[in-house]
Amino acid sequence: MPMTAPNQNQLVVPAGGFTPYPEVPQPNIFPMEWRVETPKLAELYERAKRHVWNPSDFPWDALRAEDFTEEQRLGIMYWYAVLANFDGSGPAVFAKATIHAFETHQEDPIRKCFFSITHDEMNHEEVCQRAIQKLVPGAPMDFEPTSELAKAAQNNIGWLYHNGGRYWTGYSASLAKYPLSVLFTSFMMGEVASSTLFFGMSKKATHPLFKEIFKKVGQDEARHLAICLTVLERDWPGLSDEYKTMITKQLRAGFVFLSMILWEPPNQFWDIPEYFLPNHRVLVQHARDAGLGVLTYDEQAENWKTALARVRAIVGEWGIEFPAIPELDLDGVDVGHIGPEDIIPVF
Ligand SMILES: [Fe+2]
Ligand SMILES: [Fe+2]
Repeated sequence: MPMTAPNQNQLVVPAGGFTPYPEVPQPNIFPMEWRVETPKLAELYERAKRHVWNPSDFPWDALRAEDFTEEQRLGIMYWYAVLANFDGSGPAVFAKATIHAFETHQEDPIRKCFFSITHDEMNHEEVCQRAIQKLVPGAPMDFEPTSELAKAAQNNIGWLYHNGGRYWTGYSASLAKYPLSVLFTSFMMGEVASSTLFFGMSKKATHPLFKEIFKKVGQDEARHLAICLTVLERDWPGLSDEYKTMITKQLRAGFVFLSMILWEPPNQFWDIPEYFLPNHRVLVQHARDAGLGVLTYDEQAENWKTALARVRAIVGEWGIEFPAIPELDLDGVDVGHIGPEDIIPVF
């Protein structure tokens, strides 16, 4: 029997009309739609696409292990492993936020902006990976430490990752619990911190490769900050007092968490042994000596304080109180205990 091709010109219109399609149960990524409510976010996404860069295109050959002492190699590896505790969480944190944005039917440019941050953070993480692997193959966890300094580095990093692992379930749960404005205040704080950090380091680094890397990463972070601020401008009006109080606490949690990379952490949240900070200081000093561009303790404090003053001014405009940060002589509200459930990790 020869096959007969189906008739391609015959539209079927049922006599009683089309069957109404079922409503899609929510949360769900369907139905698809591409609403734009905030054109500025769409512009930022365009900028993100134009700014794309490739971490493998950096002149990695210029980073030669033999140009550094063993201590300096360990110092740089250590600093990047500390950074990876922050930048490494970026892809997963923003991938989850991207899915959440789809499920809650946020406007299209929000989904796209979150996606672009996920992509950027993957690049930032790749930079950590490449810098570490170039100088101490197998590090941070999977290398055989042959000196006391190397053992101290590996042990500290293990403790850091233990702490990193403590907030993940809390963060995952927080997505469904809080409105975007609460989450994004924490994200904004992280982006203020990271843009400040990388801008400072790009100026201070003497090694040309690190200088170039910090410039690129800093440019991304500045765009992330612009995205966060645009989302917040959209969502902050109408924020309830309960959420405002929650945000004040989140800001203090951000300070506690981010100080590990921007300065030194206060004695809150971080579950670390007593030798952690003294050893951290020694290792970071070796990185500094190697030309990585790590600011001094005082410069870091000054930089962090300026960044926090900026955050205070931003949230103040929306009637959100700032938490007390006595560590940097910033007065404000006492928010009490900060635990793993308060940490919203971003960079
Ligand atoms: Fe980043
Ligand atoms: Fe970022």
